Amino acid sequence: MSKKIFSGVQPTGNLHLGNYIGAIKNFVDLQNNKDNNCIFCVVDLHAITVMQDPTELKNNIRETAAAFIASGIDPKNSIIFNQSLVPAHSEGSWILGCIARMGWLNRMTQFKEKAGKDKEKASVGLYIYPILMASDILLYDATHVPVGDDQKQHLELCRDIAQKFNNEYKCPDLLRPPEPLIQKNFSRIMSLKDGTKKMSKSDIAEGSRINLTDTEDQIINKIKKAKTDNDILPGNEEGLKGRPEAENLMGIYSSLSNQNIVDTLNEFEGKNFSDLKKKLSEIIVTKLSPISKEIQKLLSDKNYIDQILVDGAAKAEDISSKKVKKIKEIVGF
Ligand code: TYM
Repeated sequence: MSKKIFSGVQPTGNLHLGNYIGAIKNFVDLQNNKDNNCIFCVVDLHAITVMQDPTELKNNIRETAAAFIASGIDPKNSIIFNQSLVPAHSEGSWILGCIARMGWLNRMTQFKEKAGKDKEKASVGLYIYPILMASDILLYDATHVPVGDDQKQHLELCRDIAQKFNNEYKCPDLLRPPEPLIQKNFSRIMSLKDGTKKMSKSDIAEGSRINLTDTEDQIINKIKKAKTDNDILPGNEEGLKGRPEAENLMGIYSSLSNQNIVDTLNEFEGKNFSDLKKKLSEIIVTKLSPISKEIQKLLSDKNYIDQILVDGAAKAEDISSKKVKKIKEIVGF
């Protein structure tokens, strides 16, 4: 069955191995199935829910688009654009915001984590951000949305919004509730400094993540210093229980070497973390170095990236403006 794929990544700098394994690597696999229609969005409207330096934001928009392309997303096969170029996203978001309930948003764990203790000081944008995400997806009738595990709740909210809109306005087929595509084993890559915490762009400890733009030496050093425990490595999944660092490092290795976790467990059974770390650094360098070099090369030609985004936005506009028009008619505008 042909799938309509939509996903987005925020241009907030520090794209890391979690973004790559949890999302971008899968975008490429999905795009390479010729039956799929793929749209990948640099979600710059989402980025400003937390204050961004305008010059840095501009660079980060280009860098995120460059990371898509360098990882293997082909602008000839997939639509790549940045959200702020397509007004339908904001328009749709307002209307859907009138459907979403406060109680639904109050349950969003990511808002609670990001807003921290003092949620009175968080921006309203941060609070309503999952509604904009629903607008992104529903405007394109996306059937499948590839994301990491942390976005699961936002996708459930998107489905709820679609269903409530369809019910309230008696248009059962207008908004299509999407299916999440979340990988079983590698959907949550953890910090290299603490296997119980998600690898994140905003972690102040630089050593907690591998950035897509890290050099070979930086990668080797970060893996060398990654937290471990004192036991030898186990040979079965049961043995990973209660050992988050072993699970994380073996998960990263499995994903990048495209082998299942059972094969990785067999490969390292009874060995030390130092053996795993050596092979892990090698595979990360092998996979990320070409991407990192390609990102730098692409960024040296800003016009090229900008043109890809503008061309992608024209295609996205064509689809989403028609959908938002229908939504407006149904609402009574
Ligand atoms: P963002 O920019 O935080 O992250 C981009 C993608 O990377 C995944 N990810 C991870 N996966 C595994 N392990 C990790 N440690 C890790 N950290 C991040 C995220 O799950 C995501 O798939 N709200 C979204 C962006 C968005 C979007 C959309 C996604 C806006 N509109 C529509 C899908 C569809 C976000 O902030 O992702």
